[in-house]
Amino acid sequence: MTSTDTPNSTETPTSTADRTTTATVGLVSDFEVGDMKMARVGERRIAVVRTKSGIHALDNACPHQGYGLVTGALADEMVVCQWHNWKFDARTGECVQGEEDVACHAVEIDGDNIVVSVTEPTDEEILEATWPSLRRGIEANYIGQIARDTARLLNAGASPQDILWEGIRHAAPRAEWGPGHEMAMASDCLTIALQRTGDEQALALVQGLSGLAEVARGREPYELPSPNSTPDFQQAVEDEDIEGVRAKTLAWLADGDDPAAVRHEFIDAASRHHLGYGHGIIYTQKTFELLEHVGWDRAADLLPHSATTTAWETREDLLPYMRKTMAKIELADLDALSNAPRVDAWSDRDLADRLLDITEAPIETATDAVLAGAGIEGLLDALAIASARRMLRHSLDVEFLDDDSFGWLDITHVTTMVNAVRWAWDVDPGPHVARLALFATWLLFDSARGEQRHGVQEEMAASPAAGDIRTAVRFRDSQTALNAVAALNFEDAGNALIDAALADQSGAFIVVAHQIKLSQAAKLEANATDSHLPLLAAARYLASPRNERFVRRNVDESLDFIRTGKPPTR
Ligand code: FES
Repeated sequence: MTSTDTPNSTETPTSTADRTTTATVGLVSDFEVGDMKMARVGERRIAVVRTKSGIHALDNACPHQGYGLVTGALADEMVVCQWHNWKFDARTGECVQGEEDVACHAVEIDGDNIVVSVTEPTDEEILEATWPSLRRGIEANYIGQIARDTARLLNAGASPQDILWEGIRHAAPRAEWGPGHEMAMASDCLTIALQRTGDEQALALVQGLSGLAEVARGREPYELPSPNSTPDFQQAVEDEDIEGVRAKTLAWLADGDDPAAVRHEFIDAASRHHLGYGHGIIYTQKTFELLEHVGWDRAADLLPHSATTTAWETREDLLPYMRKTMAKIELADLDALSNAPRVDAWSDRDLADRLLDITEAPIETATDAVLAGAGIEGLLDALAIASARRMLRHSLDVEFLDDDSFGWLDITHVTTMVNAVRWAWDVDPGPHVARLALFATWLLFDSARGEQRHGVQEEMAASPAAGDIRTAVRFRDSQTALNAVAALNFEDAGNALIDAALADQSGAFIVVAHQIKLSQAAKLEANATDSHLPLLAAARYLASPRNERFVRRNVDESLDFIRTGKPPTR
């Protein structure tokens, strides 16, 4: 499918006559110019309007929130819905102020009778009218329009993949530095939508679309280059040759290269540096999961843009504070690590404890464990448990310190990264993924910064007890949320946390994105580690107070920087 196609309806249209209802709705002699009256045609409520140009019939339900247009006003040829001041041309239904047109119906005058015919649209007609409307909603970041159109499209038989993809193909070419959190959240939202049915799909899709629309609003798309197979992809990434990585990606797609081989190149590229503070492999995972859902034939809409992210992300391993750890990682025998089997009998209950070291990045601890029988998967299990425990002991006093920027978001993405490395190991194992596992070990250590400065707080524990997780999240009652999670199986607890994450219990996009991604990753990691801990950690994050806006911190840091020239403390 090309980027200009409109997905098709699955429903066979019925004849127009079968779909048309006709009724006499009043007498011309009863209508003065300026009158608006409600009438019924079959099940539909119709606003019958007389203006200087004639008698017109519109759906009475305002397309905004459904209030009756006849409760509004008529100004010359303009119907005004006074609830939120949307305005419609009475002759055509065209919306001249607001977000979408109102349906306009055929009127015939038969003697003194006003006869209105309402033809119900076919699913195909609904789809044809709604795709452009959804695109306009995404472009303008009108959540109401996105939500209404998503509901219409689902009702008319559109697939969740087609709906979500409208947001991706709008936002990806507008992401100047490449797709990021908005794409990753959208990917998880599509995964969630596909695990649900009926109306349950709509919320996940609209959350995904809202993030894409918010981030892309007001931005112009950039042009992609022509496909070019000449550049070496890894070298082009290393050189930050953006045109090169985009052109090479497009050449792979044009040449029909094996998707698994292309995926390997991306995972390899995401493993050569500790990219984007751990986000490099997360965004790679989410890109390829999205493409699994929507089909490889759509890769050209996303993959060259994701290549931009890979090439332009920060290479944290080059920063001074990571040098000591990088020296250890460079000494590691990645081949030996990737070939080390996971031994069934291997058990090291204290490994997660040792990985939680707050004085030095536990790279040798990690490599020793892998070689002793944990294998890469055993290391990832221990990292998932350790990162959960760090979340369970994150100090809320530290969270709200104005002079310390460390907070929840520095910890939550350890779990998300571990899950991304696990994905990479599943689909493309090798020494490059062993290096990613060591980067994840570093990231876990880096999430100890708050503890290094302010001490280690006691870990929260749970006593299984029934409870409503969404309410506990809403009222930031973390103990009740933990107890309720502990009382459920992984599947139910994970789904309840995802419901809470989707339910707008947070204001900032970046926090919603982390809640959704963490809940999804925690569900997977609970299954992988056979432990409630990742879910308990996600519950604590969702149900705890947190800093959501960073204006004050930015002002404080900026004032300090302008006065002293010193950068903020990490
Ligand atoms: S319901 Fe008509 S403008 Fe809001």
